[in-house]
Formats: sequence, structure tokens, C-alpha cells
Amino acid sequence: MFAIIGGTGMTQLSCLEISHREIVRTPYGEPSSPLTFGRIKKLDIVFLARHGYGNTIPPHLVNYRANLWAIHSLNPTRVVSVASVGGIRADLTPGKIVIPDQIVDHTYGREFTYSDNTDKPVTHIDFTKPYSEITRGYILKAAKLENQEIIDGGVYAATQGPRLETAAEINMLEREGVDMVGMTGMPESALAKELGLHYATIAVVANYAAGRGTNTHAVRLEDVHDILEKAMVGVRTILEGVVELDGY
Ligand code: HPA
Repeated sequence: MFAIIGGTGMTQLSCLEISHREIVRTPYGEPSSPLTFGRIKKLDIVFLARHGYGNTIPPHLVNYRANLWAIHSLNPTRVVSVASVGGIRADLTPGKIVIPDQIVDHTYGREFTYSDNTDKPVTHIDFTKPYSEITRGYILKAAKLENQEIIDGGVYAATQGPRLETAAEINMLEREGVDMVGMTGMPESALAKELGLHYATIAVVANYAAGRGTNTHAVRLEDVHDILEKAMVGVRTILEGVVELDGY
């Protein structure tokens, strides 16, 4: 079983031959959406829409703990999440696909750990490398095999949202070493790590971050839908390749 978490721009997976949907309950409540089970290239897949199938759940209200718990209960081989980001680094222009290798957390007030209200001894997960290197490698290899342009590595900052950032906040993030900014990477990646999942993210640049590129005065949101729709064609091709690599 291979798991995919879809974000903005990917609430459905058109390459998936769907077999059934299942509402899963977890000790942390219900996930954002029923899990969709199906096959890609004859291999078993489970898909979860992070913001719900109608894209109605904002980043700060996503039940990340329930989402990851539900996926973990299926004992998946790998988990690939798809997330849209604003590009800060000069080469991260709208439409680019990038596989981050580091993350910085600027979120607050979210349920961010499974180590709550337990009487177990305190544990600290190692988070030096937040993403699974093997899963990242599969994504990069699949992109190469499928002739899809992809950027290897970058620092992702998770902001609280749902508002976009100020230009000064983006300048601050850049000084911190951040290359791209999104709203869902945390606590998702840390929870995946707590559960021992082999998790990595495919980030799709939806827009220049505030104050960057053509967005010196305002972030143009009119183009985001078309940019994501186009880029997701490439993402789906890469996902098909990753599933195939994982299955054989
Ligand atoms: N900022 C934060 N999150 C985002 C952005 C952005 O500019 N674009 C897509 N997700």
C-alpha cells in the first residue's frame, strides 16, 4: 500500500482507478476526508485530500493527527504528500516542482504531536532530516525516468495562514535560509516522523512569494488555479513513476 496526501490543486487523483472510499475514525477524530482506495499501474494506493474533497478545510484547521494516524493504520510502504508553495528562491518560479529536504516551523496553536496526555516516558524524535531520503530519492528518480523537470532540495517554511505573508516576513524567511513557503508542511511532516512513516513532499510553486517576482505590490492569485492545474499533470506523472518504483 502506497499513500498519497493531496493538497490544494490535487483534491482528486485522476490517474487512480478507485475501488472504494472508507470513513476512518481515529483516537484523534476524523481525517479531513474519507480515504480513497484504488490502484495506479495495478498497485494498491490510498489517497487522502488534506483539505477535504471540497477543499473546505483551511491549513490551521486540518486534523493532521487524524490524517497521519489513519494512513499509518494501513501500514503504508511510503507516504508522498503534495503541497503548493510560494517561491522565494530565484529559481523557484510558478509552475516549478521541488522536493524540499529541510523544513522550518512558523506555525502555532496546532495539535503537533502524539506525545500528549500519555503516561509513557517522554521521547524525542530525531528530526535532523525531516523527510525520508529514500522516498525523496524515489521521487527524483521517477521524475528523471519520466522526463519531468524537478528541483532537488530546498528549505520549506510552514507559516500559519490562512493569510499570505507580508513582504517583510518573506524577507525575514529568506534571511533564515528559507526557499519556499507553505502552510501545511508542519505539523504534517513531524507527525509522519513520530509514526515512523517514510514520508516526503512534492512541492509545487503556485506563486511568487509576497514581494518577489511579479508580486512586488500584491500576490496575484488569479493565475494560481491555472498554474497548479498545469503543474499537477507533471506531478501525477511523477507519482505514477514513484508508485511503480516502490512496487517493484
Ligand atoms: N505563502 C504561503 N503558503 C502558500 C503560498 C504562499 O505564498 N502559496 C501557496 N501556499
